[in-house]
Amino acid sequence: MRFTTQLLGEIMDKLKVGVLGATGLVGQRFVSLLYKHPWFELSFLTASEKKSGVKYGEAVNWLITSELPDDVSEVKLIKNDLEDIRAYKPDIVFSALPPEVAVSIEPLLLINGIHVVSNASNMRLEHDIPLLNPEVNADHIGLVQLQRTRGWRGYLLKVPNCSTAILTLSLKPIMDILKIRNVFVTTLQAVSGAGLTGVPSMSIIDNVIPYIQNEEEKIENETLKILGSYTNGVMVKPKINVSASCTRVPVIEGHTEIVFVEFEGDVDLDVGDVRKSLREFKSNKVKGLGLPTAPEEPVVVVEALDRPQPRLDRLVNNGMAVVVGRVRVVKPLNLLKYVVVGNNLVRGAAGTGVLIAELLTHYLRRVGDFNVRS
Ligand SMILES: NC(=O)c1ccc[n+]([C@@H]2O[C@H](COP(=O)([O-])OP(=O)(O)OC[C@H]3O[C@@H](n4cnc5c(N)ncnc54)[C@H](OP(=O)(O)O)[C@@H]3O)[C@@H](O)[C@H]2O)c1
Repeated sequence: MRFTTQLLGEIMDKLKVGVLGATGLVGQRFVSLLYKHPWFELSFLTASEKKSGVKYGEAVNWLITSELPDDVSEVKLIKNDLEDIRAYKPDIVFSALPPEVAVSIEPLLLINGIHVVSNASNMRLEHDIPLLNPEVNADHIGLVQLQRTRGWRGYLLKVPNCSTAILTLSLKPIMDILKIRNVFVTTLQAVSGAGLTGVPSMSIIDNVIPYIQNEEEKIENETLKILGSYTNGVMVKPKINVSASCTRVPVIEGHTEIVFVEFEGDVDLDVGDVRKSLREFKSNKVKGLGLPTAPEEPVVVVEALDRPQPRLDRLVNNGMAVVVGRVRVVKPLNLLKYVVVGNNLVRGAAGTGVLIAELLTHYLRRVGDFNVRS
């Protein structure tokens, strides 16, 4: 099937894509977002070796409210094996594998000219790997040119940590109007953030767990990389301190973050100015590119005193928007406070992954080296 890219006005064949770790929570979201995607044709799915050869519909514990399409249900799962994957001649592979598995298969795909959009946390901070939240830092995609020295013929693009994706999308419009000094964030993270078998029900029901392994470091480090500026091949991190405290709460889907932003200068900041900047943040970096998954409004502002709430706000704009509320300014302390909710599986994982692949498609058409596959 063929499609026309809106900005370039070019006609292209659909790109062949596959999903690694398709039976997991993020993998399922990829499957649902890629099914009948206008630019991508879903051609294979992988899971762990024991499920190889089993039909997807029999192997998966499908937890998405929309029905699993019959034709996808019939697809036989394959292993995370280079030759098995190469047989499908994919252009782009989406990885929803644990990092300890991703670390071996992803480089093999890249060496063989297959582009990888990965949710696995390994390599996110390496200097030549774009860590993309497209509305915030689409221009960082140029970092892929530095990957040539690795001997890869495909490009690796990483999706940020789920809480970081939500935080940075809400912080960018604020950074546009304020000189931020410190950001303090407390997260209330849903159980789905830990994967299908991640949190035992006996540990989380009627409870809050004040620790998530490695999560605070991820938020603190990744936020600075994403909010950094990238010019002439050099990344400059903003002079901001970020400090996080992460908790797991008995919510199924949707992370809540309580954010305190300390800003510099004698600024007569008004809540209305902040809400205006958040509302007017119209995907600057990807606007006009015609990317199918880019939401018209990536940041939605609510004024009701009891919003945002994960159960009510996690699917705003198909889960691709973050919802910001409780915006307050504490003038004597130079402090701005707000609460943000975002969908960890969509905005924090698969949705942003698909958006990154759309951006990559656009980028490759522009720099003209699409056919890297042998
Ligand atoms: N959940 C979130 O909100 C979220 C957000 C951002 C990033 N991430 C990251 O995204 C990735 C996937 O997360 P998830 O929540 O979807 O995890 P998950 O529900 O546990 O799914 C893991 C997937 O990887 C496969 N897998 C596990 N061990 C394997 C092995 N040894 N060999 C081959 N395949 C294996 C599983 O296959 P089987 O079904 O056969 O076991 C399953 O398809 C992780 O790197 C995670 O850190 C997750």
